[in-house]
Amino acid sequence: MELSNYVKGKKIIFGITGGIAAYKAANCVSALRRAGAEVYVVMTKNAIEFITPITMKTLSEHNVITDMFSDEGYVTHISLTEIADLFIVAPATANCIAKLRAGIADDMLSTMLLAYNKEILLVPSMNDNMFNNPATVENIQVLSNRNINFVFPETGKLATGKVGKGRFPEIDKILLKIVELIFIKPLINSISNNKFDIFKDIISKNSFLVTAGATREYIDPVRYISNGSSGKMGFGFMNAITSLGGNLKVITANYTDTRIDWFSPIKVGTTLELKDRLMENLNNIDWLIMAAAPSDYRIKESYDSKIKKTSEELNLTFIKNPDILQEIRKNNKQLNILGFAAETDELEKNGKEKLEKKKLNAICLNKVYKDEKGFNQDKNEIIFINKENFITKIELIDKEIVAYLVLYYLFKDKIG
Ligand code: CTP
Repeated sequence: MELSNYVKGKKIIFGITGGIAAYKAANCVSALRRAGAEVYVVMTKNAIEFITPITMKTLSEHNVITDMFSDEGYVTHISLTEIADLFIVAPATANCIAKLRAGIADDMLSTMLLAYNKEILLVPSMNDNMFNNPATVENIQVLSNRNINFVFPETGKLATGKVGKGRFPEIDKILLKIVELIFIKPLINSISNNKFDIFKDIISKNSFLVTAGATREYIDPVRYISNGSSGKMGFGFMNAITSLGGNLKVITANYTDTRIDWFSPIKVGTTLELKDRLMENLNNIDWLIMAAAPSDYRIKESYDSKIKKTSEELNLTFIKNPDILQEIRKNNKQLNILGFAAETDELEKNGKEKLEKKKLNAICLNKVYKDEKGFNQDKNEIIFINKENFITKIELIDKEIVAYLVLYYLFKDKIG
């Protein structure tokens, strides 16, 4: 994704509190600045024990605010909080979260947070016992209810060497959340009559199974036929669903978009394996989002050992793979299904036929050109059709954004 398309010229207050992950904030500030955002760093007294203000000043190209009573600090906290598009605190310590919940303003950062009335994003990072402490759990719950946004810590090795939940998340995950708050939320509000929060609430009450990637049909132990699907569109859905609080399960065939690893996918190789794993994992799923590109055919008799180049010609016979969606539909009448189709011609006509034949709830169609637009690309342009015959076009935009828009159209009637 070209981050600058979404954050260029935006004003972001970047708060840093005193946690070992403070140094990771530097990468985040640097990425935002490179993308053309104006970043104003505010650091607590403890944060400057972990990373120096001079580092943050160099990266952000603005003076760093650390002191409440300097001339600069005094005026900035009022004027900045009025003009900033987003206020992020990363890392946010248990102490910072507790103070915001209680309305305590005893230093520059907490004072500015209290004075700020637009989007706040907190990235908690702390020892796992502190994160799981009922006080922290309750503070986060209360702040979520007040529409404060979070990117939660990941499970991994902590500063103490122990493995637990508390590790600072991937920078890309934080940047995607920033794009959601700065760009996607206003976009969806503009097309939905300000219903983004209702949309988010509905997504958080649903369970999704997303498939992605290209299956491989083996010819012999080292060769296979496959297609160029990268898994990027599927990743877009995984990110949007989890970011909006939805429940997510992922099954993937081969993919090149390694961000899919964030979601600990169940991995499969062939179309038949994909079908089997899907069948086993449909319990309690409300929506199946079938972004995977299964192969329609497999080799009739694949070779057990590597084929040697002894003959001048090699003929392979293919047999048809099952149509997974049709098979699933037979025994899952209540399941909601979103299908995809890459077409070269007559998009709407072919799309409507597939929607009916596979008894889908909705379908996303994208035109494939000889240069493979739509396949293994960052951006996608699609036509969305649902079974009530609502048709809309999503213009060429990054797949991460397409996913949010498609989710919105899937739930449009429920959102009202
Ligand atoms: N699909 C499936 N099982 C297959 C092939 C495709 O479930 N064996 C799913 C895809 O994941 C996608 C949808 O069906 O969500 C449409 O896939 P597409 O390849 O466009 O359609 P096909 O039914 O294979 O039709 P054709 O290739 O003939 O256009």
